[in-house]
Amino acid sequence: MKAANAKTILITGGAGFIGSHVVRHFVKKYREYKILNVDFLTYAGNLENLKDIENADNYTFIKADITDEKAIDKLFQLYKFDHVIHLAAESHVDRSIDHPLAFAKTNILGTLNLLNSFKNLWQDNWKNKLFHHISTDEVYGTLGLTGHFTETTPYDPNSPYSASKASSDHFVRAYGETYNLPFVISNCSNNYGPFQFPEKLIPLFINNIISRKKLPVYGEGNNTRDWLYVEDHAKAIDLIFHQGKSGETYNIGGFNEWKNIELVELLCNQMDLKLGRPAGDSERLISYVKDRPGHDFRYAIDATKISTELGWKPTVNFEQGLAKTIDWYLANQDWLKNVTSGEYRKYYEKQYGEEL
Ligand code: NAD
Ligand code: DAU
Repeated sequence: MKAANAKTILITGGAGFIGSHVVRHFVKKYREYKILNVDFLTYAGNLENLKDIENADNYTFIKADITDEKAIDKLFQLYKFDHVIHLAAESHVDRSIDHPLAFAKTNILGTLNLLNSFKNLWQDNWKNKLFHHISTDEVYGTLGLTGHFTETTPYDPNSPYSASKASSDHFVRAYGETYNLPFVISNCSNNYGPFQFPEKLIPLFINNIISRKKLPVYGEGNNTRDWLYVEDHAKAIDLIFHQGKSGETYNIGGFNEWKNIELVELLCNQMDLKLGRPAGDSERLISYVKDRPGHDFRYAIDATKISTELGWKPTVNFEQGLAKTIDWYLANQDWLKNVTSGEYRKYYEKQYGEEL
């Protein structure tokens, strides 16, 4: 018999950016839980992200593809996961514009496979079971200059990435309604911090500033994002997982909006100081390039629900979080070099029309 507080948790996508922080958080904080990280180690997955906990007693890594129906079902039968925290996904908007089908496959079919296997295993007794689906604020579409996304904002996705995430959210909810599958969904704003793959704005620009390459700002740089330090996201997931109400959605955000160009200027200033370069040096690398097709203008999360119902608030101030993030990338340039070799160079050339 398992102890009452013991759980066997499948975390998918645990070798990626946010997933690795979530795995680390749960492995370190909940020694009595068994954490199984299932990840297919695509270009975005990297076991180096989990070096510090790879030998922990309560942690196991399994390489598997969530789109492989049989393999996933076998894992559920073997390990009897009673809880799932599902992060595995194709996550980059620009890639979704070039390869929408890959996003439909992983984000929709992959989620469906997990839901099905979970249902096959527990549908006769859902007691003490939970499927926590990790989603994005992008499902709500775009905002103008004012307003915020709440949990009741209608879905209105604009990119193949956000359409695939919206679809996966709908399937999770449908399994809840149809099969009583216990679930929570969390929709979070833009994360930043260590281990983020350098295709995304902040690590891409840090990497380019280090090697004095152009900083490709899309359009006029007026698009706005709401930034959250990744460890604050992991803590929010912990709270929702343990205290969230089954069948509910929780929005997570940083209360921290930045226009892209202003964020890039701040990043340039911080990098100049850290690299001992003259003020204004990195800003000279800014280059305005063709806009992203269907580029959402503004995201901003109203995180009142998680804050009033579960007592969550972001703890990391943006200037400090950004400084910590830059320090991490400067101290881990081997990690950066490893992940930007090979396939990434081809992607970069195609996306930005020049060599990395
Ligand atoms: P990421 O791209 O860094 O990591 C994705 C992980 O999923 C990788 O480890 C990859 O190997 C794994 N994966 C991909 N396809 C797989 C497959 N078929 N089978 C098994 N594993 C597979 O992504 P991230 O930025 O850490 O995002 C994680 C989750 O959080 C995603 O669901 C994303 O939609 C969501 N999210 C991200 C952000 C953000 O700002 N990055 C914000 C809100 C929500
Ligand atoms: O809002 C949550 C979402 O945030 C997550 O669901 C996604 O997985 C994550 O990738 C992120 O999406 P964005 O498209 O907002 O992130 P990205 O880092 O790609 O871009 C941030 C902003 O910077 C966006 O307005 C586009 C712009 N940008 C991005 C890149 C890569 C540039 O101007 N130049 C660039 O080269």
